Amino acid sequence: TVAYYNGKISEIDDMMIPMTDRGFTFGDGVYDATMARHQKIFALDEHLDRFWRSMAAVMITPNFTREELTNILNDLLTNVTGEAYMIYWQVTRGTGRRSHSFPLDATPNLAVMITPMSLDRGKQERPYRLRTELDIRSGLTHVKTINLLPNVLAAQRAMQESVDETVFYRMAANGDTRVTEGSKTNVHMIKAGKLITAPTDKLILPGIARQHLLQAARSLGMPVEERAFTVAELKTADEVFITSSTMMAGRVVSIDGESVGQRDEAHFIPLRTQLVDEWYA
Ligand code: PDD
Repeated sequence: TVAYYNGKISEIDDMMIPMTDRGFTFGDGVYDATMARHQKIFALDEHLDRFWRSMAAVMITPNFTREELTNILNDLLTNVTGEAYMIYWQVTRGTGRRSHSFPLDATPNLAVMITPMSLDRGKQERPYRLRTELDIRSGLTHVKTINLLPNVLAAQRAMQESVDETVFYRMAANGDTRVTEGSKTNVHMIKAGKLITAPTDKLILPGIARQHLLQAARSLGMPVEERAFTVAELKTADEVFITSSTMMAGRVVSIDGESVGQRDEAHFIPLRTQLVDEWYA
């Protein structure tokens, strides 16, 4: 893994970050992540748009331009020779004595990691098993902050229960559940030929892979519905799948130990093919 921090570049294990970085004590920062293949970064413009929105949402004023960050990411990719990499970048508010409030002129710290990924096509075809859990996350879930403790614990509980991902749900005022998203993925279902996914309100991260999935559905002439849905609806859907920019699309075969979505994959397969082809293009 190649690491970058404020202009320094090294192997990740050799990169030292000052303890006064507010990311360390407060998780005071935002990030974005995608993957690259043959030096080409997947949907970079959209990830940068979201990164700039994340910074604005938490009042971080970047001391770099979009062009400068793009150049940093592309230059780092010229240091590596493998086929596929995960590209992770984050900005923290800055460095200083620990104090909750912050100086408005803090100088942000920019960090990047370029990590090799295996491009096993089989991985894209593997089945995913999910578990559900009450979503206790804050009102900043639509912002890609580095405060990921609820997501970390939810992913850990999935691992300890030998499943692949935790899906969060909230309780609506009328007592219904409302599926939000996974700990690191967005969740979608097919019902009667329609692609149904949660709306991008403040309860979920607007995933870039989700956006590409919706475009793929539209180009395949599949109706799309962005609306709230319950855990029960998810469990009785015709097909269920999850997406993220680092795994594309994975079909879901069970939720809370109950088989789901195995009626057929008539919709999932063409959608995934379109997403993967776009990435491989
Ligand atoms: N996670 N929801 C959450 C909570 C996420 O953390 C992610 C991505 C997604 C999918 O977003 P996108 O399609 O833009 O990757 C949804 C990244 C991969 C991560 O934290 O590593």
